[in-house]
Amino acid sequence: MENITSPPRMFAIISLLMIAVMLTVTGFTQAPFFRQTIIDREAAIVRDLANALAIEHGVSASDLESYTVSSARLRLDQSFSSLKSLSDVYHIKVFNRNSIIAWSDDMNLLGTMRTSHVERLTRAMHGEVQAVFNPAVHSSNIFDRGPATPATVEFYVPLVHAMAGEPPAVMGVLSLYRAPDEMNKAIRHGLYLLWSVIGGAGLILFVALFKLFDMVYSRQKNAELQFSKLTAEHHRIVQIEKLSAMGELVGEIAHQLNNPLVGVINLAQLAEREAENPQRVRELLVDVKKAGSECRDIVQRILRINQISRSEPQATDMNELVRDTIAFCHQSLGYQHVVEFRPPGQEVMLNVDPVLVRHALFNLIHNAILAAPEGVVTVSLMSEQQEGVPGYKLSVTDSGGGFSEEAEAKLFKPFFTTRPQGTGLGLSVAQHIAMKHGGAIRAENLASGGARFSIWLPAITKL
Ligand SMILES: Nc1ncnc2c1ncn2[C@@H]1O[C@H](COP(=O)(O)OP(=O)(O)OP(=O)(O)O)[C@@H](O)[C@H]1O
Ligand SMILES: [Mg+2]
Repeated sequence: MENITSPPRMFAIISLLMIAVMLTVTGFTQAPFFRQTIIDREAAIVRDLANALAIEHGVSASDLESYTVSSARLRLDQSFSSLKSLSDVYHIKVFNRNSIIAWSDDMNLLGTMRTSHVERLTRAMHGEVQAVFNPAVHSSNIFDRGPATPATVEFYVPLVHAMAGEPPAVMGVLSLYRAPDEMNKAIRHGLYLLWSVIGGAGLILFVALFKLFDMVYSRQKNAELQFSKLTAEHHRIVQIEKLSAMGELVGEIAHQLNNPLVGVINLAQLAEREAENPQRVRELLVDVKKAGSECRDIVQRILRINQISRSEPQATDMNELVRDTIAFCHQSLGYQHVVEFRPPGQEVMLNVDPVLVRHALFNLIHNAILAAPEGVVTVSLMSEQQEGVPGYKLSVTDSGGGFSEEAEAKLFKPFFTTRPQGTGLGLSVAQHIAMKHGGAIRAENLASGGARFSIWLPAITKL
C-alpha cells in the first residue's frame, strides 16, 4: 500500500481541505449578502404593488387622515385587504403622516401608533424603502424551548400620492410582516448554486493541478531513479578501473620479481650439475645471492609505498629538511656529487610529514645525480601560488639529457624505468607523497638542457 504521506496524497488531501474551507467560508460570508439582496427585491415589489393598489382605488392623503370616515375606510379596505392574500403575510399596517395606524388587517390597532421600528418608519416617511429581518426569538423558559416569536421580515414602504402637475409626495407608509420561509428557500437555492459553481470550479482546478503535480512528481522521481542508477554505474566503473589498475600493478610486480626468481632457479640447477666443482658452486651462489637481494629490494620498495599511507604531520622547517636530505644524499651516494641549495631567504614552516617529504626529495636528487653524475644539481625552495592557493615549490634541477617525449607520459607510472638498475618506483612514490599533502609534482625539460622536477606543497596542508 502506498504511504499516506506520499507527496501526491498529501497534495490531494491539502487541496481538498482547502476547497472545503473555501466553500464553507463562502457560504457564511455570502448568506447575509443573499438575504439582504432578496429582502430588498421583495421590498421593492411590495412598494410597487401597494402603490399600484392605492392608485387603482384612488386612495388619497386625506383618506389616511380621516380613516374613520366610512368612504375612506372602504377605499382603504379595497386597496390593501388583497395584500393579505400574498403568501406568508402575517400583518399589514398602514400609517398616515402622523404615524397613526389608519388601516390594518387587525382592526384593534386602528388609531394606535404601534411599531417596534420607529426609525424605519421615519425613514420610510422620507421616501426610503425599508426592510428588516427579525430572527426567531426563543422562550427564556427552559421547560419550553419552542419559539415564542417566529422569524419575520418587516417591510416599510412609502405610499406616494401623485397629483397632476405636483411632485410626488409621501402620504403614508405601508408596513407588511411576512414569514421568511420563501425567502430562506431562495437563499438556500442561491447558496447551493454558488457552492456547486465554486465546488465544480475548485474540483476542475484540483484535478488539473493534481495531474500537473503528479506529472512533475513522477518525472522528478524518474530523474532521481536514473541518477541513482547512473551513480551506481559510476561506482561500478570506478571499482572496475581500480581492480584493473591493481591487476596491472600486480602484473608488473610479478614481472619484476619473475626475472630474478627465474635467475635463482637456473643458477640453482646449474649449481646442482656442478656439485663436483665447489669453486663454480661458490660463484653460482654469489649470483643467487645477488638475484635474491634484487627480489628483496623490490619487495622492500613496495612495502615502503605502503608506509606512505601512514603519515605523521608536524610543523617542519623546510630549509632544514632540504639541508638534511642533501647531507644524506652525500652520505649514501658519494661526496663527489655537487648538490647546491638555494634557500628562499626566509624561514618556511610547513605542516608536513618530514620523513615522507625527505624521501620524495631524496628520490628526485638521486634521479638528478643519475641523469648527470658530473653536473651540478640545484635544489631550490620558493613561494608560489597554484590556482590562487598559496604554497611552496621545491625544485630539483639537473644538467643531464632530460627525458624523451615518449617517457614524459609514463614518468610517474609505477615500474616505469629506463635504467637497467632502476625499479621505476622513485617518481611514483614522490608523486604519491606530494598528493598526500594536497600538493602536486611536475616534470619539465629545460630549454638550456637538463630536467627539472618540482614538488608543490600548499602553505596549509591537509593530511
Ligand atoms: N632527472 C631526470 N632526467 C631524466 N630522466 C629522468 C629523471 N628522473 C627520472 N627520469 C626518468 O624517469 C624514470 C623513472 O624514474 P623513477 O625515479 O621513477 O625510477 P628509476 O629512477 O628509474 O628507478 P628507481 O628510482 O626506482 O631506482 C627514469 O627511469 C628516467 O627514465
Ligand atoms: Mg629514481
